[in-house]
Amino acid sequence: MSLEKGKRLDFNIGDVNEVYEGPVGILWEMLMGEQIHVGGDKETDVLAQKAGIAKDNVVLDICSALGGPARHLVKKYGCKVTGLDATQKMINEAIKRTEKEGLTDSITHKLGNALDIPFKAGSFDIVWGQDAWCYVSDKERLIQESYRVLKLQGIIAFTDWLQTGNMSAGEWEALNSFMAFPYMETLEGYEELMKKTGFQILEKEDLSKDFTEHCHLYQKMLREKLKGGILKQYGAELFQAADDGLAMWVKAADEGKVGRGRIIGKKV
Ligand SMILES: C[S@@+](CC[C@H](N)C(=O)[O-])C[C@H]1O[C@@H](n2cnc3c(N)ncnc32)[C@H](O)[C@@H]1O
Repeated sequence: MSLEKGKRLDFNIGDVNEVYEGPVGILWEMLMGEQIHVGGDKETDVLAQKAGIAKDNVVLDICSALGGPARHLVKKYGCKVTGLDATQKMINEAIKRTEKEGLTDSITHKLGNALDIPFKAGSFDIVWGQDAWCYVSDKERLIQESYRVLKLQGIIAFTDWLQTGNMSAGEWEALNSFMAFPYMETLEGYEELMKKTGFQILEKEDLSKDFTEHCHLYQKMLREKLKGGILKQYGAELFQAADDGLAMWVKAADEGKVGRGRIIGKKV
């Protein structure tokens, strides 16, 4: 499969809910920590600095999961954050953890779909996303919705998992199916969608080398540190599925077929 446009797997929001209501969110947290993205708080700080997050900013984190990044941003930068996520279990857990840390004055969590963002136009200074927009079936609509809810001169800052090279149709289907991604965008594809919507691109960066290193790290962790616990809690079938899937992703990353990127844009 080349990097041709338009091919999608038939995953929708119900499939995403099924995945994150089950053990998958917990497995990712075991591998990555409560900030469920590559690079943890270090990567959140890089994105925050590139987005220019300031104390008086109101941030919308689209696909906020457990709210780990929101809590980090509020504690470190003093901004306000709204987390939007489509899975009730993730929202409930995010609220619980935010209450426990006494941050409810600065963080709200809202159940909703990134394709129909439940906020008025011009509500936010910054739209934020980390390693999750790969789950969204219509990325053009997601970028349009991000544009709508941003104030003029507002910043969009996100990282995402990307298709970075050609692959066979079978590989494309297996890699996306394992993750329940409808498809992965390319860095250039995102740039095109953003420009078309009216964003000015401030910066884009291919982070695939770092992504590949992390894939190897996650594989090592799964096999050496987490195996026993996963077998005990979820059984051999789930462990084997996770190990097989991760091995396929490690191979594709090594071959330069999948990766990760960061993009910063401005609403002009
Ligand atoms: C990998 S996690 C996100 C991690 C989070 N950004 C972080 O850095 O901690 C993916 C999340 O995206 C959410 N999600 C996927 N598709 C969505 C959509 N269309 N609208 C809202 N949330 C969505 C899932 O429910 C899940 O909680």
